[in-house]
Amino acid sequence: MTNTDLKVEKDFHTIINERHSVRKYDPAWKMSEEEINNILSDAILAPSSSNLQPWRFIVIQDQNTKEKLLPIANNQQQVVEASAVIAVLGDIEAYENVEKIYDLAVEDGIMTSEIRDMMVKNTRNYYPNAGKEKLKEIALVDGGLISMQLMLAAKARGYDTVPMGGYNAEQFKQLFDVSDRYVTVMLIALGKSIAEARPTVRLPLEDVTFWNEFKN
Ligand SMILES: Cc1cc2nc3c(=O)[nH]c(=O)nc-3n(C[C@H](O)[C@H](O)[C@H](O)COP(=O)(O)O)c2cc1C
Repeated sequence: MTNTDLKVEKDFHTIINERHSVRKYDPAWKMSEEEINNILSDAILAPSSSNLQPWRFIVIQDQNTKEKLLPIANNQQQVVEASAVIAVLGDIEAYENVEKIYDLAVEDGIMTSEIRDMMVKNTRNYYPNAGKEKLKEIALVDGGLISMQLMLAAKARGYDTVPMGGYNAEQFKQLFDVSDRYVTVMLIALGKSIAEARPTVRLPLEDVTFWNEFKN
């Protein structure tokens, strides 16, 4: 079965309330490249450190490749049953794109070339010298933001997701020949749900919120 865009329009509050981690997907439901690109296009509007956009995606739709991924992801069935698994990676040398990114801003007329030069200079001064741990941290923070936005974008378009940290990152990198320049952020299964997600609870807001001070 090939399906077209579900065209679900929902307000933001409904989307964040209805998003849950779904682990049962219709294995027959195929998402078109266009649908997945629409979701990713929404996701990449997320903010990132110095707008360097370190996220990289591997869209895994091929069934044989999903089967190879299954044991690496603790045999979680959603890996083979969802329409796609999106691997979110973070580039720890994302600063290498700084000229490209800020040139685009100048071309778009939203930045002067003076500001562009300053941003490029600052970025080239800071990031290459920040140390691998810091660069990894930045890539993971930005990777978390893009992942959340991706999941909400999917929900807004009528699809469900589950984020997955339960996989062997080293084996994953080997399978896709990913170099040490990239960190794995998470895998996200994406597709049409066939069963309700398990309900989850949240800690009371007052347990996690402190006003004007922090209590350890
Ligand atoms: C970074 C991260 C890793 C996760 N890894 C897994 C996983 O490997 N398998 C899984 O079934 N759920 C995984 N989850 C989903 C959580 O269990 C789920 O988000 C949480 O229980 C709250 O439920 P909800 O997403 O339905 O609101 C992960 C969630 C996050 C944020």
